[in-house]
Amino acid sequence: MRASDEPIISVRNLSKHYPLRSWWGGKGSVFRAVENVSFDIRPGETLGLVGESGSGKSTIGRAVTMLNPPTEGSVAFEGTNLSMLSAKAMRAKRARIQTVFQDPYAALNPRMSVGDYVSEAFKLHRPDMSRAERREAVAGLFERVGLEPRFAGRFPHQFSGGQRQRVCIARAIALKPSFIVADEPIAALDVSIQAQVVNLLQDLQAELGLSYLFISHDLRMVRYLCHRVAVLWRGRIVELAESDALYDDPRHPYTRRLLGAVPVPVPAVERARLAAESAAPASAIAEGGDLVEVAPGHWVATPPEDRP
Ligand SMILES: Nc1ncnc2c1ncn2[C@@H]1O[C@H](COP(=O)(O)OP(=O)(O)OP(=O)(O)O)[C@@H](O)[C@H]1O
Ligand SMILES: [Mg+2]
Repeated sequence: MRASDEPIISVRNLSKHYPLRSWWGGKGSVFRAVENVSFDIRPGETLGLVGESGSGKSTIGRAVTMLNPPTEGSVAFEGTNLSMLSAKAMRAKRARIQTVFQDPYAALNPRMSVGDYVSEAFKLHRPDMSRAERREAVAGLFERVGLEPRFAGRFPHQFSGGQRQRVCIARAIALKPSFIVADEPIAALDVSIQAQVVNLLQDLQAELGLSYLFISHDLRMVRYLCHRVAVLWRGRIVELAESDALYDDPRHPYTRRLLGAVPVPVPAVERARLAAESAAPASAIAEGGDLVEVAPGHWVATPPEDRP
């Protein structure tokens, strides 16, 4: 990771609210699924996003790729604010931002050969390529993700779960993206296969300089794979740090609970400690929104009563 580089993706004050309809169909209030989330991801970096079910991880993943745009806040990708783009300009950008999901079977089309599925990316975005060029490119992609190119004519049901996820990864890298959102990409796979897919993601990162937002419940895998980790709690980031700092020295009570560390016995004492540590200069509060920098690059949310 080249830490000095400009971020690939820069998320600022992102919120996503869903309307809550009352049972008679009238206008209700809103559900705040994600609230005021800010983070950067640098070239070649993997940022992990962890938090319990329903904390808003997938919502953030869909918002940063504009599959389900944010209610508020901005997402800058390679220096361009995505919400300002026309539909046509967004289509061009979309090739550089890809997503890999938990369930490769659902992502694939059961009636389309896996080769055609990967080739579709070229059909949609590269009208300059001939049929022969597409076939050759697909074969190259299959090799790169560890599939035999001669399997390109087969259909999704003829593959194992791990192989299907490799097909999805082949499609994700087809258009040479710089950023991939991986939303629980190994959660549906056999444990024995999970490490292989993670290793593939790492190899591709090294070869292609990819940045990842890696969403996962698997805290050990997140530590292994991610350079930095953001902890999400009820739609807010409560802690963001380099992986080792987060795992070895978790500061927020929720992070400690999540990591299964010893619970903090006296909340008042902990609040006082956090407040003392959070006497950071105001200029340091830029990246994290409500977060304060308690050590270089280690951001923690302060309890509301301690906020200035
Ligand atoms: N389209 C929607 N309309 C209303 N509420 C939604 C919608 N999508 C998500 N939510 C709600 O937003 C919250 C966050 O959901 P999200 O799927 O982002 O959580 P998650 O952290 O990815 O959970 P999981 O770990 O189970 O995948 C949840 O309470 C969910 O019910
Ligand atoms: Mg999810």
